[in-house]
Amino acid sequence: MAVILGIESSCDETSASICIDGEIRSNIIASQAIHAKYGGVVPELASRAHQQNIIPTVDQAIQQAKITKNDIDAVAFTRGPGLLGSLLVGTSFAKAFALARQLPLIEVNHMQAHILAHFIDEPKPDFPFLCLTVSGGHTQIVLVKDYFDMELLGETLDDAAGEAFDKTAKILNLPYPGGPLIDKHAQLGNRLAFQLPEPQIPDLNFSFSGLKTAILYMVQGKLKENPDFLKDNIDDICASVQYRIVTILLNKLKQAAKQTGVKDIAIAGGVSANSGLRQALMEMGERHAWRVFIPKFEYCTDNAAMIAIAGYHKFRRGDFVGQDVAPLARMHV
Ligand code: KG4
Ligand code: ZN
Repeated sequence: MAVILGIESSCDETSASICIDGEIRSNIIASQAIHAKYGGVVPELASRAHQQNIIPTVDQAIQQAKITKNDIDAVAFTRGPGLLGSLLVGTSFAKAFALARQLPLIEVNHMQAHILAHFIDEPKPDFPFLCLTVSGGHTQIVLVKDYFDMELLGETLDDAAGEAFDKTAKILNLPYPGGPLIDKHAQLGNRLAFQLPEPQIPDLNFSFSGLKTAILYMVQGKLKENPDFLKDNIDDICASVQYRIVTILLNKLKQAAKQTGVKDIAIAGGVSANSGLRQALMEMGERHAWRVFIPKFEYCTDNAAMIAIAGYHKFRRGDFVGQDVAPLARMHV
């Protein structure tokens, strides 16, 4: 039997999870509400909140899994990418826990873990599969050849998809994080109400900064005609913005599927919680006879279950790190 404690602290969620023989038994997430009033994650406040939350979160994960500390066989933690001060809290905790209990230590790449969340529940994708990983910091198309053998086929040249949502929300005076709110309004609006440009980027890379500027100019122009433009049209604006972001993402994914011939297609990361993206991907999958994999909501945004499952697959390989390991703000898939 293998009992893995997973720790995630790369951004603004402190999370702990217990995985027993590949099965997730708990996944506790302490979110940090403090950042909302600043309109984005404040790194120093995030580290302090991690420091406060980490031990209660781990205790709760152990309790909910109905095990004791003595049952744990290894500790897996997010090494990066992420905010260094946040990563340091999870890394230091994991190292101390492993040292005190003489357990093997497992480093996990956060972006790989988002993808490996697809190995928590059935049905699981077959290798090789394609994964569109879309979060607040990343937008990538990854060819997943094996658990830890991943090839980056394309990525954003500027903003990430989650940033495109969050920055647009700021323009629309919606509070942070704006992605889920745009999603909510979009469900009530007409996605063809406002025409927004699709950037012409060759290959499988993305760009979202032009879209952000187009939205800003469109809103500024309309506000001159009608000071209540935002209030009167918020649902239609959100639907149009979401539609454009989703088509940018899925057109590239379609191109990647065509280029590789791969038909197992997955999405991962915080933006994969977006209802428009989930719906459009399912429809596109039917048209192209793909097998489509969409994570459960709780495994889309940052969570330690994905770290624990990645840790489990490294544990099986005996892939451990020493106590001299340090977190990395930047890490490639
Ligand atoms: O993966 P994640 O939780 O954290 C990072 O590693 O970045 O992703 C967070 C991002 C934020 O930009 C948030 O606005 C976005 O995911 N997000 C959404 C939705 N839920 C979360 N974007 C659009 N629609 C959603 N429903
Ligand atoms: Zn993430």
